[in-house]
Amino acid sequence: MQALAGGCKPESIFLAGPGKTDSDLELALSGNVGEIHIESPREAARIAAICACGGVRARVGIRVNPTEEVQYGAMRMGGKPAPFGVDEEKLDLMIQFVESQPCFDFRGIHMFVGTQVLDCSVLINQYRKAVQVARAVASRIGRPLQTVDFGGGLGIPYFTGDRELDLTQLSEGVASLMDDVRKDPHFRGTRFVIEPGRFLIGEAGIYVARIVDIKESRGKKFLILDGGMNHHLAASGNLGQTIKRNYPVALVEKLHHESVEQVDLVGPLCTPLDTLGRNVNLPSADVGDLVGIFQSGAYARSASPLVFLSHNTPVEVLVDQGEDFLIRSRGCTEDLMRDVFVPPRLLAANAAAR
Ligand SMILES: Cc1ncc(COP(=O)(O)O)c(C=O)c1O
Repeated sequence: MQALAGGCKPESIFLAGPGKTDSDLELALSGNVGEIHIESPREAARIAAICACGGVRARVGIRVNPTEEVQYGAMRMGGKPAPFGVDEEKLDLMIQFVESQPCFDFRGIHMFVGTQVLDCSVLINQYRKAVQVARAVASRIGRPLQTVDFGGGLGIPYFTGDRELDLTQLSEGVASLMDDVRKDPHFRGTRFVIEPGRFLIGEAGIYVARIVDIKESRGKKFLILDGGMNHHLAASGNLGQTIKRNYPVALVEKLHHESVEQVDLVGPLCTPLDTLGRNVNLPSADVGDLVGIFQSGAYARSASPLVFLSHNTPVEVLVDQGEDFLIRSRGCTEDLMRDVFVPPRLLAANAAAR
């Protein structure tokens, strides 16, 4: 829905992910999206039923959960029991079902097993495995696949010691893989796809919060911000990270000031989880200063528990060639109350008690 609203070409959209509701599927079909990627047998049956009901055809792919785990990546999503994709060992049955449905146009496979990979050899291994599975599928159905989707996984550096993905090495690895693939009739006309979500936009975004209070407690200094993990769960280390490490942080109006103190950056939520930076070295801070957390273009607002304890949601500003646009306004507590229905009997009882 977001991609359609954002003006993406429907044919470029692949809808993947577990838990697609009937209305998600209906929207994808009526919006004529490129492919729907099946994650389970029941989902396949639901898509077929919706197609039959509406008299439409669906371009589908099968997301595969491979037998081996990809070694590395901050968050692994395959190679083990997972809600994502169809287990490789059950792929044959799924293909049989998909091929038996006249309303399905079976296009290909999707294999995405881990995100935030900074070692390109891990990605290449993942792609090789996908090619191997795709070859077996093409041979099973007796025609080349139209799509092989390698998924996401391209990481960006967040923490001290992280090294950028070596794109030269990655492109060499992909080129050598494609040399093999080009000679193989199983892949005649096949389109190979990657989904570089984080890689494209992660570095483009900064989360900015204002210091509303500064306090010291038992020798530790806290900068208390007007937003925290409710706006940026990942920076608080609570989005699946086992070790909590600091995102790159700065006082954005004091970029050239020397660091003189070590502080913790905390949000306004009443939970110790709401810490966006631990023992961060920063210039001397004042109430009203703006704190910027870098590498926040992906998995920041959209991966956060917005409205946590009814706190406001953040605005979003797009800067394009030096010009700024408010693209999303703040969701305030009053807005949140607007869609709450209070039964008249309770309103009357409340008024009477006043
Ligand atoms: C199906 C699918 N494609 C792409 C992505 C984006 O991956 P990344 O964050 O590694 O760019 C995700 C993230 O979970 C995903 O589930």
